[in-house]
Amino acid sequence: MSAAPSLSPSRRLLCGPGPSNVPASVLEAMQKPMLGHLDDEFHAILTEVVEMLAVIYQRSDGLTFPLSASGTAGMEAGIVSLVEPGETVVVGVGGFFGDRIAEAARRRGARVVEVRAEPGAHVSTEALLDAVQRNRGTALLAVVHAETSTGVRQPIEEVVQALSGSDVMVMADCVTSLGGTELRAQAWGIDYCFSCSQKCLGAPPGISPISLSPHALERIASRPGTALLYFDIELLARYWIERPVTYHHTVPVLQIYALHEALRLVLEEGLENRWERHARVGAYLQRELSERGFALLAEESYRLPQLTAVVVPEGVDGRAVQRRLVEEHGLEVGGALGSSAPPIWRIGLMGENASFEAVDYVLQALEAVVGGRRESRSRGSTTAVSGREGS
Ligand SMILES: Cc1ncc(COP(=O)(O)O)c(C=O)c1O
Repeated sequence: MSAAPSLSPSRRLLCGPGPSNVPASVLEAMQKPMLGHLDDEFHAILTEVVEMLAVIYQRSDGLTFPLSASGTAGMEAGIVSLVEPGETVVVGVGGFFGDRIAEAARRRGARVVEVRAEPGAHVSTEALLDAVQRNRGTALLAVVHAETSTGVRQPIEEVVQALSGSDVMVMADCVTSLGGTELRAQAWGIDYCFSCSQKCLGAPPGISPISLSPHALERIASRPGTALLYFDIELLARYWIERPVTYHHTVPVLQIYALHEALRLVLEEGLENRWERHARVGAYLQRELSERGFALLAEESYRLPQLTAVVVPEGVDGRAVQRRLVEEHGLEVGGALGSSAPPIWRIGLMGENASFEAVDYVLQALEAVVGGRRESRSRGSTTAVSGREGS
């Protein structure tokens, strides 16, 4: 085969569940001179990445650093590090990613107790605590802080507070929350958080920042050599934290430059300012959609601002709309994820895409493709857009 032509990908506004668009300076960071992964100059960069990540996770104790793999790796690393075959794991399942944690724990050989919620609802804190109580010796309770498949925020701080002082570890999937929604790993008492680079942090995909409490580190230290080699937290810490470094694997140098720049931008903006920007912009989108008569899947008090699940109106082909948004407007939005998911669009406003301009663009494109304003209940109409309005 002769060489393929060089790449010229189309420009898109990435308002799906991630990846989000990457700021220009993050892309530019990847064009800086390559250093070797064992170069002292590069290790200073690693240290800055770790320090900035710890601030963004809001943790000054324990251990915080990124894994060289996507968010799913952070999930799997947590399970293999904190759970032994035969141990009990309680998992809050409100959508696709809760199901995935349960599956990862089953593959580890754990006994999995699922506490389920309907799509669009959060998992009840009482039900989670009840499951822990009924399953004495539970090793780990795992929940999804921001369930990207439904747009629901899990009030994780309630469950961790109730379990504080117990032996039960708490793991939180923060893939869609880190850098976009309030998250205080240490103050809330979460033992293991994992996230990704490509959503609210605004870096390219392929990196999974994790953050562990001292309690989690003690558990890992008490079971040396039981995790997979690639996810061995203690060996990884010898590269990321200890100096001089000990080789573990060849890290993706340019991805780390990009992450460094993305984290710098988060802190330059201010973490709380960034949470607030996501909140304001997400609320604007949700208000405008509701006024146009679209029904939102997530229960109102637990809606994520950075990911809005919109019920596809009856009689509309959701996938065809997604295709036209890409082809005619260069706009990516997500569809339903998982076989049991109701027909929805998932609109992400993450990182630099959490802007009023992006919302206006999405609304105009939707209006052009799906049609004009729908009658909304809030304006006194009795015409529901779909049978699920108000769910
Ligand atoms: C809540 C949640 N958890 C885990 C993942 C998996 O992350 P990745 O696709 O980076 O492996 C995703 C990806 O979208 C997610 O949204």
